[in-house]
Amino acid sequence: MEPPREDPLNLAAMRVGYGSPATAGADGVAAHLDPAWLTGDPPWLGLFDRWLAEAVAAQIPEPNAMVVGTVDADGRPATRTVLCKGYSAAGICFFTGYESAKGRALAAHPVASLTFPWIALERQVHFHGPVTTVAPEATAAYWDSRPRGSQISAYASAQSRPIADRAALEAQVAAVADRFGGIDGDEPIPVPPNWGGYLVDVEYAEFWQGRADRLHNRVRAVRTDSGWDVERLQP
Ligand SMILES: Cc1cc2nc3c(=O)[nH]c(=O)nc-3n(C[C@H](O)[C@H](O)[C@H](O)COP(=O)(O)O)c2cc1C
Repeated sequence: MEPPREDPLNLAAMRVGYGSPATAGADGVAAHLDPAWLTGDPPWLGLFDRWLAEAVAAQIPEPNAMVVGTVDADGRPATRTVLCKGYSAAGICFFTGYESAKGRALAAHPVASLTFPWIALERQVHFHGPVTTVAPEATAAYWDSRPRGSQISAYASAQSRPIADRAALEAQVAAVADRFGGIDGDEPIPVPPNWGGYLVDVEYAEFWQGRADRLHNRVRAVRTDSGWDVERLQP
């Protein structure tokens, strides 16, 4: 067994208290997250609307960033951050390369977990459920809204594949730009083959709110054949 490493940052002692008046999230200290907050159909939608809007209002960096978990063909889990680009009762949407590592994992196992880590608000939200690709028209509508530079980069990048160096990557970008009338040209960049949206159909939603002494609040909604089960979980 390895001897313990030194801990110059004193990680073992590092802890932030939750639920004090100074650090409490937008619910304050008194308002305890409760299963009664999960109402409507689906019951996660209204509270998610509110918490996401509060994350935006609080100006935390990348409030729509979410950690996506997938499982590859060999059963290996992996996570990475992507941006939520829309959601509704039908599910939660993000855009990426269909032949990226996550795309290949989703082809093998079309299920994903999502985590919104709003730590600055002492909140966290998890979702998981089956995944489908979004309709090409919906992908095209989002693609058209992206700045030209990021369209060119996405077109040029074989996402998750190795490349020799930065210069080779920039050469690929230059080649794509030349093909479509230049970096500042006005010839539209088409949606790349093998790029588009995924929709996570939420069958499990969990909301977490930090509280003092690690006595945090957790509530979840689980879809069943007859509706939704909503319950409190121990922290
Ligand atoms: C804040 C943030 C937002 C990101 N948003 C996206 C995104 O919307 N789509 C995407 O494909 N990658 C996004 N990435 C990059 C991914 O985390 C990841 O590196 C990339 O998708 C390749 O992942 P994979 O090799 O596991 O497929 C983002 C990274 C960060 C840090």
